[in-house]
Amino acid sequence: MTTQSLSQFNNVAIFGSHGAIGNAFVEHFLTLPIQSLYTFSRHPCSILDPRLNHFILDITDEGSIHSLATSFDSALKFDLILITTGLLHNSAISPEKTIRSLSQNTLRTYFDVNTIAPMLIAKSFIPFLSQSTPSIMAMLSARVGSITDNSLGGWYGYRASKAALNMMIKTVSIELRYTNKQAIVVGLHPGTVASNLSEPFTKNYSKNPIFTPNESVSHLTKVLSELSVDSSGNCFAWDGSQIDA
Ligand SMILES: NC(=O)c1ccc[n+]([C@@H]2O[C@H](COP(=O)([O-])OP(=O)(O)OC[C@H]3O[C@@H](n4cnc5c(N)ncnc54)[C@H](OP(=O)(O)O)[C@@H]3O)[C@@H](O)[C@H]2O)c1
Repeated sequence: MTTQSLSQFNNVAIFGSHGAIGNAFVEHFLTLPIQSLYTFSRHPCSILDPRLNHFILDITDEGSIHSLATSFDSALKFDLILITTGLLHNSAISPEKTIRSLSQNTLRTYFDVNTIAPMLIAKSFIPFLSQSTPSIMAMLSARVGSITDNSLGGWYGYRASKAALNMMIKTVSIELRYTNKQAIVVGLHPGTVASNLSEPFTKNYSKNPIFTPNESVSHLTKVLSELSVDSSGNCFAWDGSQIDA
């Protein structure tokens, strides 16, 4: 059973709307005749559109996620919730090339942002997934989170935090079979995409195409439109192929 086509999604939520891919999703949905778009970011939003409701949120603050969710009317229902947040590097953190670079703080930060935050969002926002029509919660993961696919090594914290996210997605998909049979929860690999996150690592990169955020969103919207309840719990790449755990 495939879901309705993406152009028929009416109410969409996007966490990480200030990021490259998150923002491209926002722009994409505002070109469609959707009813409402809820966006969440640490940054304000300058887009003026009567369908857009923007909220400032630090996804690493559990209390803030919970407070925001409880401030919404429980009758609010989304067809699609996208979690487009993620961390690979910042001013204090670079992905580890060797085990000698592992640090407790860095590993904790990777897991906080890439694994724990998306799942706390899922905990608070799964009740807002539509139950009367098919609904999707999709989280941006990464191919490097595949244990099977790991032939290069390195990037310990990022890889492990995305592998753990994929396990969490699988686990919550099993619970949703009992609590919301219409819900699909998946991980998505957007491809290699030009963004702040990828920029330091794509300069001399020629193995795979480097997509613009808009190109990646165009691929991912097709993947989303082809999901079925049987897809739930899995991670899919930008071309629709399933990524091994
Ligand atoms: N770009 C690639 O080549 C690539 C490849 C594979 C997977 N991915 C995945 O795709 C997702 C989006 O990546 P991107 O390329 O769009 O990166 P990006 O432009 O750097 O955006 C990252 C997003 O993560 C959010 N974020 C990071 N740390 C946060 C924190 N501590 N608290 C709250 N929000 C935080 C930011 O939210 P704000 O809106 O609050 O700033 C931002 O929206 C990530 O999960 C990444 O792992 C990307």
